Amino acid sequence: MTTTVATTPYEGQKPGTSGLRKKVRVFAQANYAENFIQSVFDVVGPVTGKTLVIGGDGRYYNRTVIQQAIRIAAANGYSQVLVGKGGILSTPAASHVIRKYGASGGLILSASHNPGGPDEDFGIKYNIANGGPAPEGVTDAIFARTQVIDRWLTVEAPDVDLDTCGSVAVGGMTVSVIDPVADYADLMETLFDFAAIRAKVAAGFTMAFDAMHAVTGPYAVEILEKRLGFAPGTVRNGVPLEDFGGHHPDPNMVHAKALFDLMFSAAAPDFGAASDGDGDRNLIVGRGRFVTPSDSLAMLAANAHLAPGYRAGLKGIARSMPTSAAADRVAEALGVPCFETPTGWKFFGNLLDAGMATICGEESAGTGSDHVREKDGLWAVLLWLNILAVRGQSVDAIAREHWQRFGRNYYARHDYEGLPTDTANALIAELTAALPGLPGKSFGPLVVASADSFAYLDPVDGSTSANQGLRVLFEGGSRIVFRLSGTGTEGATLRVYLERYEPAEGLLDRDTPDALADLIAAAEAVAGIARHTGRTAPDVVT
Ligand code: G6P
Ligand code: ZN
Repeated sequence: MTTTVATTPYEGQKPGTSGLRKKVRVFAQANYAENFIQSVFDVVGPVTGKTLVIGGDGRYYNRTVIQQAIRIAAANGYSQVLVGKGGILSTPAASHVIRKYGASGGLILSASHNPGGPDEDFGIKYNIANGGPAPEGVTDAIFARTQVIDRWLTVEAPDVDLDTCGSVAVGGMTVSVIDPVADYADLMETLFDFAAIRAKVAAGFTMAFDAMHAVTGPYAVEILEKRLGFAPGTVRNGVPLEDFGGHHPDPNMVHAKALFDLMFSAAAPDFGAASDGDGDRNLIVGRGRFVTPSDSLAMLAANAHLAPGYRAGLKGIARSMPTSAAADRVAEALGVPCFETPTGWKFFGNLLDAGMATICGEESAGTGSDHVREKDGLWAVLLWLNILAVRGQSVDAIAREHWQRFGRNYYARHDYEGLPTDTANALIAELTAALPGLPGKSFGPLVVASADSFAYLDPVDGSTSANQGLRVLFEGGSRIVFRLSGTGTEGATLRVYLERYEPAEGLLDRDTPDALADLIAAAEAVAGIARHTGRTAPDVVT
């Protein structure tokens, strides 16, 4: 029997770069999660007779919201919910399950790489039938709905046992608890040469994968240890924990420090990798060689044809605007288009659906392809493994050869975290106003060629997205981008993206901070970061 519960709107339920993200204590307020979920169903409905996928990254509060969402889905008329066992589905696996079973959409419960626990972060994201994040038109409509919502629907039913695979009825709906790993692992076997990788492992090739106590643990154990034959223990921190062991499940040099230290030590295995809270980001580090996400995109694109799933070649490459232009050079060499989109994976969906791009990537450690409609951490790891197995070279050797051919885009991102929102907005407003006066000005040896606020015209649906980051482009191909993070839950984070192009005949093995020193100074001079924020150094460099 359906029950209607009266409610009143909450302020601020506006989905950000990747869904609605708030502290758990915000989500735990009466009606908060229910209002948002009902708003989703109101906007994407009528949902009668449709299938919904639900899964999350295993963080604290997942199970509570899954039970709520199941009852609300039943009351709204869905005929079926597919939910991962234990409430688990990595973000790319959820995307695959939506596509494979023809669901009309899915709820992904995650705050990605943000920390988890009662005092930490939670999130809800709606993905559409193509498996990708809902586009802005849909998220705007959901937000509008949250502002006027006055009721949500539910059924009276006991909690579903999420830890046993099988089907049960909730109201008139069937809830199927499915193995969260099997479908995804099978998909990976169709894309990559598992036999070649297995042979390489049997010949002594070793790796370390840090699952960061997050969702990829069970996926990595199944694929790397069971199907590819890597030794038990190759997957570290492989048991998902509700608080990720108290760490940030963010695979970068700061939060995956133990893996980094290992890869730069005498005990380093041949290959190191990590993934984030919900399994869509990746970190690639060879023995003594970190590969930036921007470089990884370019190197994967240049070598993708070595994997069975990409043997026919790429239709195009897409990268977010702040991602370095390394991939552009590969696209040019391959004779395929390269698209520059705003930050956020959702902007790749149309290009992938239209068959205009095959591989996509972002500086924020996301890489993926048209096999799903999310970025995919383990996919990137497996493509690297496939390439390493076929080429028989180290990560370092592959990187060096790449730069000798295409030149090198030295790259770093400096983050200033926890800024008062007003301070961050004032910095951006002042810089925006200054942009027209910058061309022709010199900052040390750098001369500004052009400066603008990035706007995107989607070539598929003709929609535009303005104010997507401030760009200062210098003569010779160097660049600084300023942008405020769209994924935080407290205060503001200023991101400063620094890029310097060194041609193939130039100095290809400099230390990145040295290579970027002039740009770091120019960023300060252009934007007055210290003057505005009082900070003289970034909190995080990635
Ligand atoms: C999420 C999205 C990515 C995006 C990133 C940017 O991870 O899935 O597509 O690149 O957020 O985060 P930011 O904090 O820079 O807005
Ligand atoms: Zn993520």
